Amino acid sequence: MQPDELRNLYLNSFKKYGHAIVPSASIVPENDPTTLFTGSGMQPMMEYFLGAPHPKGTRIVNSQICFRSQDIEEVGDNRHTTFFEMLGNWSFGDYFKKEQLRWVFEFLTKNLGLDPQNLYVSAYEGNSKIGVDRDKETPAIWKKLFAEVGIVAEVVENAVEKGLQGGRIFYYGDGNWWSRAGAPKNMPAGEPGGPDSEIFYDFGVDRRLHENSEFKNKVCHINCDCGRFLEIGNSVFMQYQKQEDGSFAELPKKNVDFGGGFERILAVTQDEIDIFKTGLFSPIIMYLEKISGQKYNASEDSTRSFRVIADHMRAAVMLAANGVYPSNKKQGYFARRLVRRSIRYAKMIGIDQLFTADLVPVIVEIYKDSYPDVSQKLVQIQNALALEENKFVKTIEKGLKVIEKYQEAKESFVIDGITAFKLYETYGFPFELTQEIAQEKGQKISLEEFEIAKKLHSDQSRSSSADKFKGGLQDSSEQTTKYHTTTHLLHAALRKILGKHVQQKGSNITVDRLRFDFSHPQALTQEEKQKIQDQITTWIEAVLPVTVAHMSKEEALKSGAIAFFIEKYPDEVTVYTIGGKQDLTASAENLADSVQKTDENTSPDWISKEFCGGPHVKNTSEIGKIEIFREKAVSAGTRRLYLR
Ligand code: ALA
Repeated sequence: MQPDELRNLYLNSFKKYGHAIVPSASIVPENDPTTLFTGSGMQPMMEYFLGAPHPKGTRIVNSQICFRSQDIEEVGDNRHTTFFEMLGNWSFGDYFKKEQLRWVFEFLTKNLGLDPQNLYVSAYEGNSKIGVDRDKETPAIWKKLFAEVGIVAEVVENAVEKGLQGGRIFYYGDGNWWSRAGAPKNMPAGEPGGPDSEIFYDFGVDRRLHENSEFKNKVCHINCDCGRFLEIGNSVFMQYQKQEDGSFAELPKKNVDFGGGFERILAVTQDEIDIFKTGLFSPIIMYLEKISGQKYNASEDSTRSFRVIADHMRAAVMLAANGVYPSNKKQGYFARRLVRRSIRYAKMIGIDQLFTADLVPVIVEIYKDSYPDVSQKLVQIQNALALEENKFVKTIEKGLKVIEKYQEAKESFVIDGITAFKLYETYGFPFELTQEIAQEKGQKISLEEFEIAKKLHSDQSRSSSADKFKGGLQDSSEQTTKYHTTTHLLHAALRKILGKHVQQKGSNITVDRLRFDFSHPQALTQEEKQKIQDQITTWIEAVLPVTVAHMSKEEALKSGAIAFFIEKYPDEVTVYTIGGKQDLTASAENLADSVQKTDENTSPDWISKEFCGGPHVKNTSEIGKIEIFREKAVSAGTRRLYLR
C-alpha cells in the first residue's frame, strides 16, 4: 500500500461514519505560545474537548502533521521518527467507547486486511488515588469484537511481571491514561485527560528484534519494547478534568481522541517491522545508497545513519514547507539541528558531497499529492537547506581543526564544558556536535557543564544576554517590562477568578498596551472584568517581589510552576515567581547553589510561578495603575483582553 492510499482510506472510512474531513493544522501551533510544535493530533483540538463547538460538528477526522523535538536522539531504531503523521478521529461529546473501538477494529481488520490474530489491546486498571475506577467496559467491548472474528480474547493483569499469560486484552496502570502532561499526577489543574486503550501489532516471537540483547531473558508483554509488539493506535476516552484540589471531575461531555501512527500502520500493512522500508522513506534511502555507495542494511551503524538522515531530512523539508527554516531561534533552531545532524551522519556513511538540495525533490515527490504546499515551495526549501549546509560544512571544518590543535598542544586534552562553550561562542559549533565528538573519543561532557560555562560567560561580560532572553517582547523598554509582569498577574487573576481551565494562548505587548489571549468558553461579564482588574490592582499595591530562579525542569514543576507542554523546555529552566519569600533570587555566581536554594523556597504564598525568560520588574508596585479596556473573541473558545 502506498502512503497516499492509506491516508485516503482512513479519512474516507471515517467519513462513512459521519465524520467531517478537515485538513491538518500547521505544525507550528497558531495560537499557543506554550509549545513550539504540534506534537499530537489532539493538540489543535484542545478547546473542543473543553466544550467549545467545532465549526464542522461533533465528528471530525484528519491526518495531523506532528513533530516531536524531544525524540531527536531516539531516531535510529526501526520505528522512531521526529516528524510523523497522526491519523485522528474525534468525538466531541458524540459517540464513545462502543463505536470507537468497533470502528477502529473494523478499519484495521476489514479495510486494511490486518489479521486480527496479530492484534492485542490494553485497558486502564483504574487508580483509587484519583478516584477513577477500572475501565470494565473497554475489555468487554474488545472481547465481543474479537469473538465476532472467532478469537477468544482473554483479559489478563500484571503482564509486566507475569508476561502474556495467553491473554489478548491487558490491564495496565497509569501508562493507560492519556493527557498532554502524561500521568494524572503530572497534570495541572484544568487539564483534561482520561483512560485509553492502545492497539498493538504482533510481529511474532521469531521476529523479536533483540534476541541477543537486554531483553533476552526478560518477561515479554505487549508494552515491553523488545520489538515484538508495535503500538499502532490509541483511543483516548477524554472524560475527566483535573480540579484545583487534585481530584478528577467528569467533563460536561465525554469525548474520544484517537491517534493512529501513520508511518507504523503503513509498515504493518506490509507486515514490515522497519518503517524505513515503507514508501514514506524508501525513495530517500535509495537516493542515499546511490550517493554514498553503501547499502542500507550493511551494518547496524550504517543502518542507523541512513535512518537518521532519512528522518531528519524529511522533517526539515516538512518544517520548511510550514515556514520553519534553519535559524538559531525557536522552531528554527530544531530545523537547524536536523540539517546539521543529517550532514554529520552523511559523513559517517561516506557522503562527501553536498547533498541536501538534491534530496529535497525526492522527499517532495512523496508528499506532492497530499500536501501541495510542499511542491510549491520546492525551490525555496532547496535554497534554504543548501545555504545551511554550506555554512555548516565550513563550521565543521573550522571546529575540527581547533579540536585537533588543542590535542596537538596537549596529549591529555579532555573536551570539557568550557571547550564546548568556546567552540560554540567562537565558531557556532553546536554543543551536540562537540558532545558527539567527545563521545567518539570515549569522553563525556554534560549539557549542564556547557550551560554553566555559558552562564558564567554572560554574567562576566554582561553581554547582550538581556536581549536574548526577552521572552518574546518587541523591546525591553521600561513600559514593556511592566506589561510583561502584568501578563503574569493577569494569567494568575484569570485562573483564580474564572478557573483553572484558563490557559494562556498568546500575548503581544507594545509600549501602549498589553494584549492577552486565553482559553475560556464565553465572553466575560462586566462583573468578572471588574473582579479581575481589582485583583491585579490589589497585587500591584501589595508591593509583591518578583524573583527569578534557575532550576531543573523537574524541580520547577514540583514547585508548582505553570508550564503546559513541558517537553519543549530544556532540562534547566528559568522560573519567575511573584509574591512569596524574597530570597528566591538565584545567585549568579553559583548555579548549583541556586538549584538547592529553590528547594527550600516552595513557599505557598506566591501568587504566580511561570516558566519564562523575563525580563520583569523587581516588585509589582513598579507597574502602577492598570485597566482592562477591551475584551473580544478570537476564535471559538479563545478570548482576548486588552490592558493598559
Ligand atoms: N492523543 C493520543 C496520543 O497522542 C491519541 O497518543
